[in-house]
Amino acid sequence: MVRADHGTSGTKPAPEQELVGQTKALARGDYTSCRVCHGVFYQGNQGVDAPALTRLPAWYVRHQLMGWQKGWRGQHAEDIPGHVMSAIAKLMTSDAIEGVIQEIQRIDRPTLTPAKEAGAQAQQFLVEKGTRAGDLDKQLLVKKGEVVYKERCLMCHGPVGGEGREAMKAPPIGGMEAWYFKEQMMKFARGVRGYHPIDAYGQQMVSVARTLDEDSLNELSTYLSHPLWGPTLEKDRPKKRVTKPGNSKDPLN
Ligand code: HEC
Ligand code: HEC
Repeated sequence: MVRADHGTSGTKPAPEQELVGQTKALARGDYTSCRVCHGVFYQGNQGVDAPALTRLPAWYVRHQLMGWQKGWRGQHAEDIPGHVMSAIAKLMTSDAIEGVIQEIQRIDRPTLTPAKEAGAQAQQFLVEKGTRAGDLDKQLLVKKGEVVYKERCLMCHGPVGGEGREAMKAPPIGGMEAWYFKEQMMKFARGVRGYHPIDAYGQQMVSVARTLDEDSLNELSTYLSHPLWGPTLEKDRPKKRVTKPGNSKDPLN
């Protein structure tokens, strides 16, 4: 009889020492391991399912890392990318978490322009550049996406979507990668994210995601990932603000 572990026991690449090494590196402020997946500038890497982190404010990064540590994110059997992040998050002390947050905030990155009238701007842009059939389709999707955003997402994610709303624990979603957006919406819709009874915020997204059809998802992903969520000028950047760790009595934190 062939034992289940025969084929794999000799090739396992993650011996405990390696994990101890990673924990130590993270504890002394060496975040190379984060950049291996998320990119040198935390710009994201679809090849390993790792999104850009530059979009994210301190409070949200902290909240999600806690989620993986406590098991309300990333533990669903079907959530393979979630399992990966969950294993990494569990190697982090609270100092390491605060350190990496500071590092992400320090990255000299373009902030996202609140694309208030993304549809109108897109139209203007296309008129100036001359319009092709493909552009027209995209322009229509952007406009429709903006309408859906305003009706269904604005109340939590903010009037323009690029800023998020900390009070609602809803992160900025303007400028996010289309592939990551679709992946997360699918996860919410299937209860692969927002599955835990303690995760009231994830559950809000489960209810939202279940009401969206494929057309709306396409429109939203085209709108939210549109290049018009581009860089703002240095002088227009909001002041970077690193909030203190949340109330430890909060069961989610
Ligand atoms: C082996 C690859 C890998 C490494 C190393 C890694 N990540 Fe990730 N990270 C991922 C993947 C994959 C996801 C997407 C998880 C999902 O789909 O839910 C992710 C998601 C995240 C998110 C959530 C983004 C969001 O929009 O919700 C944060 C925050 C994050 N990682 C932080 C970190 C930090 C900090 C480190 C270093 C300590 C790190 N990651 C190291 C692969 C990695
Ligand atoms: C009732 C408030 C609420 C509404 C309405 C809402 N969201 Fe959310 N959304 C949240 C919260 C809270 C989170 C954070 C969940 C978590 O902590 O895991 C979130 C997270 C997300 C994420 C994950 C972001 C990431 O980086 O992983 C996406 C994508 C998203 N929302 C898209 C949408 C879209 C699109 C709409 C409109 C169709 C919408 N949301 C409407 C509250 C809301």
